[in-house]
Amino acid sequence: MTKDEKKPLEQTLGEWKRFIYNPGSGEILGRTAESWGLILLFYLAFYGFLAALFTFTMWVMLQTLSDETPKYRDQISSPGLTIVPKPPGALEFSLNISKPATYENYIDAIKEFLREYEGKKQEHLLQCRNGTFFEQDNIFPKKTCKFSLETLGPCSGLNDVNFGYPDGNPCIFVKMNRIIGLRPQGEPRIVCAVKEGTEVNLATFPKDGRLDLMYFPYYGKKLHVNYRQPVVALQVQFQSYNQEVSIECKIEGSPNLRNQDERDKFLGRVAFKISLTQ
Ligand SMILES: *[C@@H]1O[C@H](CO)[C@@H](O)[C@H](O)[C@H]1NC(C)=O
Ligand SMILES: *[C@@H]1O[C@H](CO)[C@@H](O)[C@H](O)[C@H]1NC(C)=O
Repeated sequence: MTKDEKKPLEQTLGEWKRFIYNPGSGEILGRTAESWGLILLFYLAFYGFLAALFTFTMWVMLQTLSDETPKYRDQISSPGLTIVPKPPGALEFSLNISKPATYENYIDAIKEFLREYEGKKQEHLLQCRNGTFFEQDNIFPKKTCKFSLETLGPCSGLNDVNFGYPDGNPCIFVKMNRIIGLRPQGEPRIVCAVKEGTEVNLATFPKDGRLDLMYFPYYGKKLHVNYRQPVVALQVQFQSYNQEVSIECKIEGSPNLRNQDERDKFLGRVAFKISLTQ
């Protein structure tokens, strides 16, 4: 651009003003009000249509999903096992019976965990028939079977509020993850064994670590509001102090509950260590 072609400032400003509003043709920013209106209308209709389409597709998809049962699963999966209390980090308990601080948190966690099994909290629940599934596909709302603390023997907290910890007989609770619709075959039990360590005995409650079939099937958080999960208590009875034991618990006695997946070491089993000192 050469110097001669440069327009005087006033002329340029005048052109801009006319561009912004042209009194002659009534144009605003180069378009008439009518033209702007049409454009606005077009975009409104266009985005309105997109929003409607999105909402409709979403609605159709949600209709096909149920709140309770996952829609896509190839088969009812096999549950994992977890323990209560759970040491921070790895599953390694380090207890010193002369130092309550090493186990107080565990006792608190157990109390919290067992709270919902207290007699008062289960008054309104059913005493179900043992040894058989409690089918209630067509019953709403779903009813819940009692799980009686008494069956947990010395780990019930009814007689020993410290669950054996200060005596070197700590209780550890094993539960199976809830899986909606799971119906275990056979007679599922949680069986624990000592892998390392010798001077230790294991006792499980209820008898034989049995998970009664009356607690199955589970219908999900929303439908089965008060569900009480069956739990197995393991009392690790140390015969001498200053030793470390490793223990593995597995689901046994039920062909459709797997317990030895190479890749998933919590599928149907759980392993942990306890060291006890004084
Ligand atoms: C049901 O409970 C009774 C009494 O507690 C017991 O003797 C029996 O073995 C149980 N049956 C099953 C299948 O769990
Ligand atoms: C256990 O705690 C007692 C009391 O604090 C202490 O004297 C002892 O050394 C502890 N034992 C171990 C192995 O840390």
